[in-house]
Amino acid sequence: MASLTIRQLDEQLKKQLRLRAARSGRSVEDEVRTILRAAADEGGADAKETVSAPKPARRTDEAADTKRVLLIIGGGIAAYKSLDLIRRLKERGLYVRCILTKAAEHFVTPLSAGALVGEKVFTDLFDPAGEFDVGHIRLAREADLIVVAPATADLMAKMAGGLASDLATAVLLATKTKILLAPAMNPLMWANKATQRNLAQLVADGVALVGPNEGEMAESGERGVGRMAEPLEIAAAAEKLLGAGASLPLKGKRILITSGPTHEPIDPVRYIANRSSGKQGHAIAAAAAAAGANVTLISGPVNLPDPTGVNVIKIETAREMLDAVETALPADVAIFAAAVADWRVANAGVQKIKKKTGQATPELSLTENPDILSTVAHRTSQRPKLVIGFAAETEHVAANAKAKLARKGCDWILANDVSPQTGIMGGDSNTIQLVTAKGIEPWPTQSKQDVAAMLIARIAAEIWK
Ligand code: CTP
Repeated sequence: MASLTIRQLDEQLKKQLRLRAARSGRSVEDEVRTILRAAADEGGADAKETVSAPKPARRTDEAADTKRVLLIIGGGIAAYKSLDLIRRLKERGLYVRCILTKAAEHFVTPLSAGALVGEKVFTDLFDPAGEFDVGHIRLAREADLIVVAPATADLMAKMAGGLASDLATAVLLATKTKILLAPAMNPLMWANKATQRNLAQLVADGVALVGPNEGEMAESGERGVGRMAEPLEIAAAAEKLLGAGASLPLKGKRILITSGPTHEPIDPVRYIANRSSGKQGHAIAAAAAAAGANVTLISGPVNLPDPTGVNVIKIETAREMLDAVETALPADVAIFAAAVADWRVANAGVQKIKKKTGQATPELSLTENPDILSTVAHRTSQRPKLVIGFAAETEHVAANAKAKLARKGCDWILANDVSPQTGIMGGDSNTIQLVTAKGIEPWPTQSKQDVAAMLIARIAAEIWK
């Protein structure tokens, strides 16, 4: 049966319908239904049966079993990441509809979001065209999941208070659908008692959360908990809530990752360490888990939260890291992102070494630590199919990394320049050169999360090839 929408009617007819609807206090849709029912009554019982309440419309390119996500983009600087989120949701086979709040329009345009979702983006509660075609009640009803990203402090407060002052909040109030929030705000706003109260209320109301993560804020010099979760993490959380998982690129794969520094004791209270923050290794673990992998992360001492959905094993020394890695085998892929101390103190004190005035300062004698990457890459049994190392260099980055690839016997090396002026060690961005047997591929400077996403995509392509 041909379908007819109110939008297709001519302007004069639409105007008359609007007036009739206003006079009878009905929505235009209901008014049309009333007219059709009356016409069917005149046409007899057979005709009446054919005029039932409209079924939720589905796009013609949308299969019947396609899950539908309504993405509400709130007004925060992280809104730009939500454009990437649309892509991540769509590449998982999800149908995405999008609402932009008025504040979100300061950060992204309906045009850019519309181009990515492939249809009109909704912005206005009182949009006459919207109410003719897809009103706020239908937006709320025709979604299998509503994702709010970024969920600003203001949106969370309105949700917790049950306000319905614009399209986004009206939809959120008019739905029984599961809601997933990806909060994003300044750390002080996140930590504020009011936000935490609203959060507790929303969680009690059954709202699901992803993030916020710890990291650098858009405002220079600001950091803390409040960064929106990465698009890959949000897409994975959405997929989990929808119960759809078949499209996860690393589903069923076991991935072993090392991260962070190691601490090598001098005595029970002192140790040798390095400046590794663990951010890159932890971001890779989060991205691998988001891609559906079964992830074991073996981490030295870091100041980071455990990534969601990852089995985290905490160690201190290089030898403990090697033991944990060997125990965690077999794995399909092993990624060695840890900055393992090359040496440990051979004569570490069992008791605290005491300062004795007038006597010679203590001498530390160093001995070499096991090379964990090389040990695993050279295994004759249980060698992961893909063994990936990092090369932290301060000069001749590509040449040193190529030599390291051969010496350590791994398959890929992600080389980076860790000279202090690059800010990579401890920082939030990274510039990688991927070194493989085929050659060297320079990657753009990007966030450590984007490096992680790029690496996971490359791994997925490699292991399914
Ligand atoms: N690595 C390791 N075990 C070690 C030392 C390094 O598993 N004892 C791994 C790191 O996790 C990284 C790679 O080897 O994936 C290269 O580490 P890097 O510090 O760049 O090189 P080193 O082997 O320490 O060599 P050099 O210090 O001479 O550059």
